[in-house]
Amino acid sequence: MLRRLHHEQPESFAFTPANLAWAEGQISKYPEGRQASAIIPLLWRAQEQEGWLSRAAIEHVADMLGMDYIRALEVATFYFMFQLQPVGSVAHFQICGTTTCMICGAEDLIAVCREKIAASPFELSADGKFSWEEVECLGACANAPMAQIGKDYYEDLTAERFAEIIDELAAGKVPVPGPQNGRYAAEPKSGLTSLKEFESGRAQYNASAQRAVDTGDTIRRIDGTEVPLLTPWRDRGANHKPSASSVRLNEAPVAVVPKPVAAEATAKPAVKPAAKPVRASAAKAGAGRKPKVMKAPRKSGADDLKMIKGIGPKLEKLLHDMGVFHFDQIAKWTEQEVSWADQNLEGFKGRVSRDNWVEQAQLLAEGKETEFSARARKGEVN
Ligand code: FES
Repeated sequence: MLRRLHHEQPESFAFTPANLAWAEGQISKYPEGRQASAIIPLLWRAQEQEGWLSRAAIEHVADMLGMDYIRALEVATFYFMFQLQPVGSVAHFQICGTTTCMICGAEDLIAVCREKIAASPFELSADGKFSWEEVECLGACANAPMAQIGKDYYEDLTAERFAEIIDELAAGKVPVPGPQNGRYAAEPKSGLTSLKEFESGRAQYNASAQRAVDTGDTIRRIDGTEVPLLTPWRDRGANHKPSASSVRLNEAPVAVVPKPVAAEATAKPAVKPAAKPVRASAAKAGAGRKPKVMKAPRKSGADDLKMIKGIGPKLEKLLHDMGVFHFDQIAKWTEQEVSWADQNLEGFKGRVSRDNWVEQAQLLAEGKETEFSARARKGEVN
């Protein structure tokens, strides 16, 4: 298929302040002179923000990475994960039409697209909400036929189920990704024939579907405030030489929180960092000491602890049951307390130090989004 830039283009592109901070964090992963390695994540984030990749967005990313425009264009036009034209405002459906999916019914799925969305690929539906295209193998052949919707895979589809999914999305719902015929993953439809011990204690959905449900951004645009900005790799390792841009950001580390920080919250004194950085070694610090807990969250409600990388809904519930509701509680944990939590979060042992919860919680508790946004508006972090 011919992949070229759309005939109508916006004048300009800019990352939101939070996405810009995220992009700078990605760039800082690479040593000086290798910033071009960040091209795919940056193009992807630009697409997550706008829904598609305009020429202005591609050139903006190229400028950030010090690349020639033609090299960034080569990447954007090569991979069909990048949309070079406006797509449906709610979802763009990528139907795999390669051999396995074709044999198992991909043509029926495409017929549904033609009937419910638009007659031709990349044509917007009458309400502008949906668009579709046929793509080559997406690597989920054992669950054919399948489609990628937004960022997730919907597998083991039938025409009927696929039509229902479109209706659900039109009604504002987000169907659970993964197999749609009752299979857990790619096991035989009649059930596992070996390794049955893995059936007990597993999550509700298979790993990728569970992750998709936990993340919840299947079809959502990302302005960057949904996830915390974490760049734990910065300044680690003797040979790491941070780029100029990462140095700028490291001078004033920022955390992005998902909702605007209320005036009351910003007025709180910043949480003092722990006396010593708490690292993985804390797990070896013995039985530890139980952290101070609360009977209930403060009147303003519990913080969204899932913003800490590594904490999902189950762990959050476990923490609530323990009496931990706020970032500043975790931010104050000492090595002894981390060690205790590492050993007493049933089913999640070692997670606290492995994922550096204390460091993350300190950033989140400090609620730097407001400060960062103000600096970004003044152009201090460009
Ligand atoms: S043939 Fe459809 S995912 Fe591979």
